[in-house]
Amino acid sequence: MFILDCLGVNEKNILTIGGADVSELAKEYKTPLYIMDEDKIRENCRLYKKALDEHYNGNGLVLYASKAFCCLRICSIANEEGLGLDVVSGGELYTAIKANFPMEKIYFHGNNKTKDELLLAVTNNVGRIVVDNETELDMLGEIAKEKGKDISVSFRIKPGVDAHTHDFIRTGQIDSKFGVALETGEAENIIKKAYTLEGINVKGVHCHIGSQIFEIEPFLLAAQKMMHFIADIKEKTGNEITELNLGGGYGIKYTKTDNPVPYGDFIRHISQTVKQITKERNISLPKIIMEPGRSIVAPAGITVYTVGSVKEIPNIRTYISVDGGMSDNPRYILYRSKYHALKVENPTEKPKKIVTIAGKCCESGDLLIKNIKMPSLKPGDLIAVLATGGYNYSMASNYNRIPRPPVVMVSGGKPKLAIARESYQDIIKNDIM
Ligand code: LLP
Repeated sequence: MFILDCLGVNEKNILTIGGADVSELAKEYKTPLYIMDEDKIRENCRLYKKALDEHYNGNGLVLYASKAFCCLRICSIANEEGLGLDVVSGGELYTAIKANFPMEKIYFHGNNKTKDELLLAVTNNVGRIVVDNETELDMLGEIAKEKGKDISVSFRIKPGVDAHTHDFIRTGQIDSKFGVALETGEAENIIKKAYTLEGINVKGVHCHIGSQIFEIEPFLLAAQKMMHFIADIKEKTGNEITELNLGGGYGIKYTKTDNPVPYGDFIRHISQTVKQITKERNISLPKIIMEPGRSIVAPAGITVYTVGSVKEIPNIRTYISVDGGMSDNPRYILYRSKYHALKVENPTEKPKKIVTIAGKCCESGDLLIKNIKMPSLKPGDLIAVLATGGYNYSMASNYNRIPRPPVVMVSGGKPKLAIARESYQDIIKNDIM
């Protein structure tokens, strides 16, 4: 009935998420409010695991890319579901440590990890450091010596694959700040160097071609290139790389026109490609690592807002302003991302009029949805913007000193706060007079 299958409508004709009445949650926790269906998140985790089991004999590991949404609770959920974790900063790593996440299942990414971040990772025995560049490799070599520790690494490679997505979230091409390039020999050189460093254990190669991708082909092309690279390294050095990490990027449905590929299909095709190349090039089957972020959490979340002013500019536009905006969802202003919204009361009511849903920040570009057909809306009405479970809370800010909204997770129809609402006191807590 709705774009997200965690949504429904109850006997009072009110929108539900995970079976919970959205208007009641809005009353209890106030708006703006992020609501996530925990059962759906778990189901999404299982979909990936099941697909790897079915198509690759379970010889893999699914990492949840915590940049999509990071907090203690989501780390626990990922752990309970048997997933590993992709972290990309000291802050995400610290959250995982505090959530008692098994350190050996953490992969630490980032194109400019600081020495302090690397030390935090190494002293906590993080499973893999995904090395981005030679400066980082050198730093790790020193840390291994200083600490007398073995450090297991993988390498971020630019496979030279162009994925069709927003420019800011394309990463596989040579002009990218992430990783070392295949075609220039940079990737081969850094790995050869790593083999000479004491305390550095080369385990894997990694690539991530971009985010919100709807095609299988770029993933297959990347997998092919990476597998041939693994085979080339074996031929040239005699060493076999045992882990192939293909990153995340699997697209989700934000609007009716988005058509995501079932995640099992991605994995089935990737597995076939990988298996075929192991035969052709006479190498062993690597462990496959995947790093979905958005597709685990985004379709399990909505943001609920209260309508404030309704401004009709005759023959031009009707602005429906809500009590949040780019401070809780900067994706429109950053990428012109498209979203769908529903009225919380009577969500199946026929939309009548094209309106623009605007935020309350002091910025003309602070829109949530430009031109969406909605039923009539008046001040005080609740609306839900859909598929906001990923890259919304994690990219939220205090612009205009707006406190970040809380996150409520619903499980078995029951809500439980996962992140409390920020207060004005929180806003000034680091200020010094
Ligand atoms: N692995 C690596 C190394 C990544 O860089 C990313 C995302 C992922 C995994 C997870 O990708 P996902 O499955 O979530 O697409 N802020 C942007 C998205 C940036 C993605 C950055 N890297 C947005 O709101 O669309």
